[in-house]
Amino acid sequence: MNVIIMGYGRMGREVEKILLERGHLVVSRVDSGGYGDELKPSAESLSAADAVIEFALPGGIKDNTALYSEYGLKAVIGTTGWNEEKEEVLKPFESGKGAVVYGSNYSIGAHLFFRMTAQASRMINKVEEYDTMLIEYHHNKKVDAPSGTALTAAQLVLDNLDRKKEILPGNPPGAIKPEQLHVASVRGGNIPGIHTLTLDSPADTLEITHNARNRSGFALGAVMAAEWLCSGEGRTGVFTVDDFISDLLD
Ligand SMILES: NC(=O)c1ccc[n+]([C@@H]2O[C@H](COP(=O)([O-])OP(=O)(O)OC[C@H]3O[C@@H](n4cnc5c(N)ncnc54)[C@H](O)[C@@H]3O)[C@@H](O)[C@H]2O)c1
Repeated sequence: MNVIIMGYGRMGREVEKILLERGHLVVSRVDSGGYGDELKPSAESLSAADAVIEFALPGGIKDNTALYSEYGLKAVIGTTGWNEEKEEVLKPFESGKGAVVYGSNYSIGAHLFFRMTAQASRMINKVEEYDTMLIEYHHNKKVDAPSGTALTAAQLVLDNLDRKKEILPGNPPGAIKPEQLHVASVRGGNIPGIHTLTLDSPADTLEITHNARNRSGFALGAVMAAEWLCSGEGRTGVFTVDDFISDLLD
């Protein structure tokens, strides 16, 4: 694939490494902060590209997607924070010109963890002896707690395990109710992200852990999503990261 990297920050640089490792060509690195080859994508770059992978900030997202669709590009959007403008951002692709996949988590490992969480919760649904809980660790600069990944996993437990009815975040001062799912957050050091689902019975404990070493998992998933959009005849229209992951894993 010939690819434009939109946003040449931490994620854009990771994406470049993976693209080159997988034999793709980087047409242009576009970064409005001046860190790339161009501040805005030129007509020349847009015409030369098959795909664009965007990990930028959300300010320019509407103009960007209109441009990607105009040039018939396959667009992978990793940029987050544009939910309120979702309709306008995705509208250009509804015409069938170009394609877009979007989502807040491109890590295939995280999606494996989500699927295992759902499956494990279903498996203990009729085995009352097992209780379950979630714990996540992140670096000391993380602003939100619980993490978005932990909340997604927690929702999957609630969806698949009848006896858990509500998420209990934070550090409860006393006993918790059996229908509460405790989601604990620990902050410190440089940890990129560890999430563990624990199943515990009087006889034993099982743990499912996703331990992210760095950001490369997000970048690999984004590059694979672009390959997926370009594969075969090439897809057109609007897809979520779940559509891509389901095609890959299910
Ligand atoms: N979907 C996922 O799996 C996933 C994973 C990690 C990060 N993210 C998101 O990706 C985005 C980037 O993250 P990061 O850690 O690389 O940030 P970063 O700050 O390191 O890099 C962002 C870069 O984009 C540039 N930029 C800002 N606005 C731009 C615009 N309109 N056009 C072109 N370039 C622009 C900035 O100059 C900067 O170099 C954020 O929205 C983040 O939340 C998503």
